[in-house]
Amino acid sequence: MTRYFIFLLLLFSCQEKETVVSNPTIIPKPVKMILNEGFYNWSSSAQIFSDSLFISEKKYFQEIFSIEEVSRDVNSENTIYFKKNNQLLNEEYFLKVLENQIIIEASSSNGIMHGIQSLRQIVPIQENTSLNKLQINCLEIHDFPRFRWRGLLLDCCRHFMQKDFVKRYIDLLAFHKMNILHWHLTEDQGWRIEIDKYPQLTEIGAWRENKDGEKYGGFYTKEDIKEIVLYAENRGIEIVPEIELPGHSVAAIASYPHLSCTGDSIKVETDWGVFKDIYCAGSDSVFTFLEDVLEEVVELFPSKYIHIGGDEAPKYHWENCSKCQKRIIDNNLKDEHELQSYFIKRIGDFLKTKNKRLIGWDEIIEGGIPENAIIQSWRGMEGGIIAAKNQNQAIMSPTSHCYFDYDLDAINLEKVYSFEPIPEKLTQSESKFIIGGECNMWSERAPQELIDSKVFPRILAMSEVLWSEKEKDYTDFSNRVEKHYPKLDKMGVNYGYEKTPIKFNSTFKDNEFIVNIEKGNPKMNLEYSVNDQGWKDYLIPLKFKKNTTLIVKEKNSKRKVVATKKLEFNFHKGLDKKIIYKTNYNPSYQADKNKTLVNGIAGSNNNFRDGQWQGFYGTDIDVIIDLGEKTKFSELSSSYFQYHLSWILLPKSIEYLISDNGETFSRIFYKDQICNPMQEGKFKEQFSYRGEQSARYVRLKAKNYGTLPKQHPAAGSNSWVFIDEFIIQ
Ligand code: ACM
Ligand code: ZN
Repeated sequence: MTRYFIFLLLLFSCQEKETVVSNPTIIPKPVKMILNEGFYNWSSSAQIFSDSLFISEKKYFQEIFSIEEVSRDVNSENTIYFKKNNQLLNEEYFLKVLENQIIIEASSSNGIMHGIQSLRQIVPIQENTSLNKLQINCLEIHDFPRFRWRGLLLDCCRHFMQKDFVKRYIDLLAFHKMNILHWHLTEDQGWRIEIDKYPQLTEIGAWRENKDGEKYGGFYTKEDIKEIVLYAENRGIEIVPEIELPGHSVAAIASYPHLSCTGDSIKVETDWGVFKDIYCAGSDSVFTFLEDVLEEVVELFPSKYIHIGGDEAPKYHWENCSKCQKRIIDNNLKDEHELQSYFIKRIGDFLKTKNKRLIGWDEIIEGGIPENAIIQSWRGMEGGIIAAKNQNQAIMSPTSHCYFDYDLDAINLEKVYSFEPIPEKLTQSESKFIIGGECNMWSERAPQELIDSKVFPRILAMSEVLWSEKEKDYTDFSNRVEKHYPKLDKMGVNYGYEKTPIKFNSTFKDNEFIVNIEKGNPKMNLEYSVNDQGWKDYLIPLKFKKNTTLIVKEKNSKRKVVATKKLEFNFHKGLDKKIIYKTNYNPSYQADKNKTLVNGIAGSNNNFRDGQWQGFYGTDIDVIIDLGEKTKFSELSSSYFQYHLSWILLPKSIEYLISDNGETFSRIFYKDQICNPMQEGKFKEQFSYRGEQSARYVRLKAKNYGTLPKQHPAAGSNSWVFIDEFIIQ
């Protein structure tokens, strides 16, 4: 009995403990925040005053903080005031925490919402919890965004995302003052929006049969969409739907085959990639279909904008379609690119009659930039630059910084934070056409349960790039991210890493490899094994004097393995030798530039983005290794990657040549008919020559397969050839 009483007493005193928020942090960082003397005593009951415009925000506030409204006399504590201030710009707000009162001032609901979200980041409570003994340092915030367009693209097509999941993302966007949800709703692999006039789009087009026979899919009914749109509106988030055309339309064509050039019956796509079955540009019934669809879409979404895609549309069928060719002649068009422009312009004109503005990926510039269209620049910054110079607005989301489906090897938190949406090439007046940016969450490799780990924490950096002032400090940001994690924990966010969990940096010096291993998270531990000889803690750089297999594990504080990486270090005569490139690798897949092919580390069997594979696009590989002096060897080998859905094919032929003067070469090996461009899966293949030779220069030529063949889903496009490690033994 007594013990129970003491327990209760303890419990009671725990609950009564004071929580003091004395140094709050906010992401994105407010333009101006000052701390003042004194504290505001938080309470789960307060009197809330609100100007009539902000009734909906008041209700949201009460829900979020579980605040019960009470009537108090004037000089009581705990009043909250949402105040209209017409001097402020659309999203601008003041947040004042005083000893007796919290005031949020704005001219619009958006501004009040931002103020509430800042408060939500300051007060360490979330839905359905309350703290009565919370004290918040008095402070004043004056805040407004740098860019008006701060978006996240959610691809709900490659993988379907449940309605509640989408709503949760709307909350998370609002929490970080992002204001656009770019909702990708139609794709090769699934049509996700109910259209009354064309029921097969969701009866057939929303479902695909995976290779294992599983039926996968889903779609949003009109009621779902209305519910989501309202939910977003109440949180200051604008939803911009994307209805892809003329490419990425296999699911629509599978539902209604007359929409394609051939009229052939096809299935909803199950692979990832770019596919040549696209809407026929010569058929008027295609435009009737698209206008009918868009008519229903515009009724569902109050946004002024409709995204129509426009990216990655192979012109293969258009080149071979009599209707498309007739359209080109009838309209005096130069080629299929101008036909694509015709297509986009015709849709843009239709949208104009509905008072909507068209947004498209940067390909819509090719063949003439559509008047008044907003360009979303993704293949680098160039599309946005062309748009701005032409006085078209642009949204920046280059693959280099904004593709959150990419691995951390390519885009880590710091890289996102370094993103600058305004290209240096633009003058001040041209810069005004850059309205903001987006991070793109394509979901080929991320079903719903992985989305959090891809989006977070990277979106924190993006929110700050798009909201806060241009001058930034990564260390300060990083400290705030650390304090932000508990807030994400409370919201149930399964955030991922800030950088690659295990990163190698190897140099070759004095005949040994020196290998540094960096961990992705300071709280984790690294263990390694060399040639399967047991596990040790990693403390200092490792040195290898002979061929070595290194395996590294990263473990969390509970000693649970969270990541593993394996590398092979191979000694050979070409190691660290000078390499001369007669053709150039592509900057997107440069790996470790001129060291990659002779660094002793081979590219992996299944990941062409592992930082070892070097890619050449639309061009052959031609490299010469200078061994420094005449050298005897008995084997040459090189490896290539194939993943035909990413347009990466084995070479058409391979040649090894040798020379003593570096000018005249004689061939010692040749092999052709290597590549089957339709062979499925991801794999690596090695090609070796064996025979006693002696030479100073060794040359490798690998012929690019050339344009993708007729049977390939992206027929007619250039292909890649990927190589790693040119081994000389
Ligand atoms: C895109 O990533 N294809 C826009
Ligand atoms: Zn056609």
